[in-house]
Amino acid sequence: MTVSDHFRLRDRHILLGVTGGIAAYKTAELARLLVRAGADVQVVMTEAAGIFIGGSTFQAITGRPVRRSLFDPAHEAAMGHIELARWAELILVAPASADFLARLHAGLADDLLSTLCLASEAPLAVAPAMNRNMWRHPATAANVEALRVRGVRVWGPAEGEQACGDQGPGRLLEPAELLVRVGEWLGQGSLIGRKAVVTAGPTREPLDPVRFLGNRSSGKMGYAVAEALVREGADVILVSGPVSLDVPSGVRRVSVETALAMREAVLDAVTGVDLFVACAAVADYRPRQIVDQKIKKTEETLRLELVRNPDILREVAALPDRPFCVGFAAETDALAVHAEAKRKAKGIDMIAANLVGGGEGFETDDNALLVLWEGGWLELPRQQKTRLAEQLVSVIAESMDAQATIEDPR
Ligand code: PMT
Repeated sequence: MTVSDHFRLRDRHILLGVTGGIAAYKTAELARLLVRAGADVQVVMTEAAGIFIGGSTFQAITGRPVRRSLFDPAHEAAMGHIELARWAELILVAPASADFLARLHAGLADDLLSTLCLASEAPLAVAPAMNRNMWRHPATAANVEALRVRGVRVWGPAEGEQACGDQGPGRLLEPAELLVRVGEWLGQGSLIGRKAVVTAGPTREPLDPVRFLGNRSSGKMGYAVAEALVREGADVILVSGPVSLDVPSGVRRVSVETALAMREAVLDAVTGVDLFVACAAVADYRPRQIVDQKIKKTEETLRLELVRNPDILREVAALPDRPFCVGFAAETDALAVHAEAKRKAKGIDMIAANLVGGGEGFETDDNALLVLWEGGWLELPRQQKTRLAEQLVSVIAESMDAQATIEDPR
């Protein structure tokens, strides 16, 4: 079986944007693979793309005339740009030049492709390709980061030898790799069409303008869960405490600092979602008072008065139309007993328990989980958090399906 046979892209509408870059010739091969996988592909080229590749190549491969102009009377009379924006199930821009990424970030709509990216509700992916110095330039890095935060998927670039002779990041991902990404996104996925909110990282509870109470959560576990959910096709909002991790491709991140801000962001995001995964290490208490000036060391001892923070997970689980709720339990002993007690006390569907302290759980790249739900449990052995998250997400997807079957037995 070939890569393209493998994916079920039959009749899926893919709008393939091509911008100016030497790698544009590879997009012809990508178009061919997509068509072979059954997809209906409409190519939209920018003016600069036309310097690198002819539209007739794409027309021959896709069987559709290439679209280039916003004001083409022939097309605006038939499938105008707004219809084209509605037609697309996925927009993939490959190669995406530095200039196009900047224009996309700025929200410009001065040609057909940028207008479609603004006008369409379809998910958007970009496969950057450019010289390594352009890719590493702070302006490009800031544009890409901002696009990621907006939920744009950024596929690549790959490292290697560049057309200009330089070595480094900036090569377009190979067409077969891009096909796999499209297939993962559109063709498979146990959570396609589901919406999820995930919390990750620590919270910081300020004491004065420079100090806070915090914890050791790095966000790695929660970010891995968000990424695994996206890979299964879910639409994910990640409410994150302060961490130094990049936003996973395709995830929308809302950054917060305190438990109260995390609660507010979660309650804003959670309406109408199917799944809530609480992986954040939320501070249980916050200082009663935040002092305006830096606290001076005049006394030998200092007393802090702390007040309880709201329990975000418990609150979401108590909502009338609540999503499927998954909590984490960080325990130092009697993992199963404490975790099951927490699952019941918070009224949630599932809990993923991990041992913490002594170099386990927090900050590390690997972890092990004991997953508990009503009437079942599963041990996921120690492994990379990314792999572990994939397994957890598949257990969650199965449980959500099982719950839906019980609720609607037809
Ligand atoms: O971020 P890493 O460095 O990768 O580390 C991962 C992790 C150890 C932080 C993660 O795997 C984990 O265990 N997260 C939950 C940590 C925690 O706060 O556990 P808890 O047992 O105190 O809380 C139970 C559950 O209630 C958690 O889902 C928590 O998000 C939620 N909670 C807790 C308090 C609160 N005020 N609101 C909440 O929603």
